[in-house]
Amino acid sequence: MRMYDLIYKKRQGEELTPDEISYIIQGYVRGDIPDYQIAAWAMAVYFQGMKAAETAHLTKEVAHSGDTVDLSAIPGIKVDKHSTGGVGDKTTLILAPLVAAAGVPVPKMSGRGLGHTGGTIDKLESIPGFQTELSRSQFLQQVKKIGAAIIGQSGNLTPADKKLYALRDVTATVDSIPLIASSIMGKKIAGGADAIVLDVKTGSGAFLPEIAEAKKLAQLMVDIGLELERKTIALLTDMSQPLGYNVGNALEMKEAIATLKNKGPQDLTKICLRLGAAMLTAADYSNNMAEAEEKLLTLLESGQALNKLQEIISAQKGNPEVIDKIELFPEAREIKEVTATKSGYISELDAKEIGLVAMLLGAGREKKGDNIDPAAGVELKAKRGDKVARGDVLAYLHTSSKFKERLPEAEKRIKKAIELSSEPVQPRDLIIEIID
Ligand code: URA
Repeated sequence: MRMYDLIYKKRQGEELTPDEISYIIQGYVRGDIPDYQIAAWAMAVYFQGMKAAETAHLTKEVAHSGDTVDLSAIPGIKVDKHSTGGVGDKTTLILAPLVAAAGVPVPKMSGRGLGHTGGTIDKLESIPGFQTELSRSQFLQQVKKIGAAIIGQSGNLTPADKKLYALRDVTATVDSIPLIASSIMGKKIAGGADAIVLDVKTGSGAFLPEIAEAKKLAQLMVDIGLELERKTIALLTDMSQPLGYNVGNALEMKEAIATLKNKGPQDLTKICLRLGAAMLTAADYSNNMAEAEEKLLTLLESGQALNKLQEIISAQKGNPEVIDKIELFPEAREIKEVTATKSGYISELDAKEIGLVAMLLGAGREKKGDNIDPAAGVELKAKRGDKVARGDVLAYLHTSSKFKERLPEAEKRIKKAIELSSEPVQPRDLIIEIID
């Protein structure tokens, strides 16, 4: 086989065989096939697409390109959840204890934030003492004992995806639906999941802002799951405004705790109940989403889900007192209010721009390894559809003394990201569709 012929075949729109896909991915990971040939192939895939069977095979190759996690020591169906990324998306912090409280094991490996989207691991590390690095056996033991653990990715998982993603990032081939689908599903399968729940975002803050494109991605990932015998449910959800009110690590952790006390924002609570119900259904714990949602609501109301978070925090050496003493979280030195310059109804809250402002204030990193400020971020005081009067507070900007001089720019950008209309605004659906 020659890589040249396979690039040519894909460029002409033909379907690659499983052996040809294995040759490409294995050759790339070994270093036998150079970046420039893989870049040309990725561009051919971008324009010609891939058939479902080709994408499923590519997913398998990505999943098995390095170490895989064996979760068989944990009894029951292990269900993983993945979000395609958004601003203020703190659902994992709520879902892990909530679903574990329902009796479904949650061995969760999560990432750090990059660019305008945050990461679960950074959010958890805003809890004083919280350890996100556990050995594989500590991880499995904790899930067996208390039902959940959340750790950073470790080991040599999906090296094919690491190489391919970095190359796609610099060759304008990230937004190819089969390449995104195989990247996400490959990682979930390598992580040992038996069943997968996907939160596919659409809207301005999402990776694929167009609904039709996001839906294609969701459907393709569900089809891949079917092909690879992993029960997969996808929710297509709105990310045209941040989820909840808080964007930034400690701010999001505090909002997650409020939600587990059943005092959280309505949109965040709703999406968590729906995603949690999908997790319970995917794990065959319930065969009815409505019944599963009821059960989860009782766990929120009774405080059992909150107690589970406290157990997770204690098990991972964090200070469990943060649950009741929110002031134990790092607090920003500089807090600036942003007020409305006129009265009206909030018509847009540009999620991506708000994420970028939080990053400017120190909450995010531009490149891997950059330091972040756990206290920094944006605390919104109003959401789309709300009526505000001139002078009302729209948001608070939280930052450190180091970035104090960035506040005027941040204020200007937040004001621009929050649009006001003189007419009442029609609500948008938060959960657009469920695909299973
Ligand atoms: N997220 C991933 O994990 N992979 C992609 O290709 C895109 C988004």
